[in-house]
Amino acid sequence: MTDHPTLDNKTAVTRAAIHELLANRWSRRAFSDEPVSTDTVLSLMESARWTASSNNEQPWRFIVATRDDPDAHGQMVSCINAGNQRWATRAWVLMVGIARDNFDVEGQPNNRFSEYDTGQAVQSLVTQATALGLNVRQMGGILPDRVREIYSVPEGYTIMAGLAIGYPGDPDELVEALRDRERLPRSRRPLSALFFSGQFGQPHPLAESDDQP
Ligand SMILES: Cc1cc2nc3c(=O)[nH]c(=O)nc-3n(C[C@H](O)[C@H](O)[C@H](O)COP(=O)(O)O)c2cc1C
Repeated sequence: MTDHPTLDNKTAVTRAAIHELLANRWSRRAFSDEPVSTDTVLSLMESARWTASSNNEQPWRFIVATRDDPDAHGQMVSCINAGNQRWATRAWVLMVGIARDNFDVEGQPNNRFSEYDTGQAVQSLVTQATALGLNVRQMGGILPDRVREIYSVPEGYTIMAGLAIGYPGDPDELVEALRDRERLPRSRRPLSALFFSGQFGQPHPLAESDDQP
């Protein structure tokens, strides 16, 4: 595996230590041409498969395309919007995440945790990918109707988001419009806007004096 370029302003700034897999993950647009092995793709699949889900429904489904199959890869690229195609085309692995809307058991519609669980499966995959030195950038900017048509996705399944997955690349190789954006520091809402006690909106005492960016 080659050395991957890093940007030193991207590590999460936290008031308490978090695991380096979480602190150092960020969503690069810059991908290298380095192939991702089939074993590694299989690891990503397994990481998603073993995610927790409500009622163990496992409502997530993924369509996967890799650059070593140019037709399949091109087909999936055609499901990504123009803005995202500027960087995502280079990613070795492309996926689309899909959520099954209903429970498996007949007569039980509307699994309200379907999209929640599918997002969790994606987070498992992202964490596994990060541990393997891969980068993932997710994409809401895909064309769901086209995904449904090309891959014959049945009714009762919701097309969620795309994933571009591959080894990190050199930001200087991005199109000019994206180079500076790739170097911007990451930001988050303060803990006090996210963690409450007593009443909704009332910061939890641990979060109150939060003045981190
Ligand atoms: C569901 C979802 C959809 C996203 N859609 C896009 C997208 O269409 N294009 C894009 O460039 N980034 C997209 N992103 C990446 C986010 O902008 C990025 O995760 C966010 O800015 C936080 O940055 P970080 O992941 O580096 O911490 C998406 C992320 C998620 C989770």
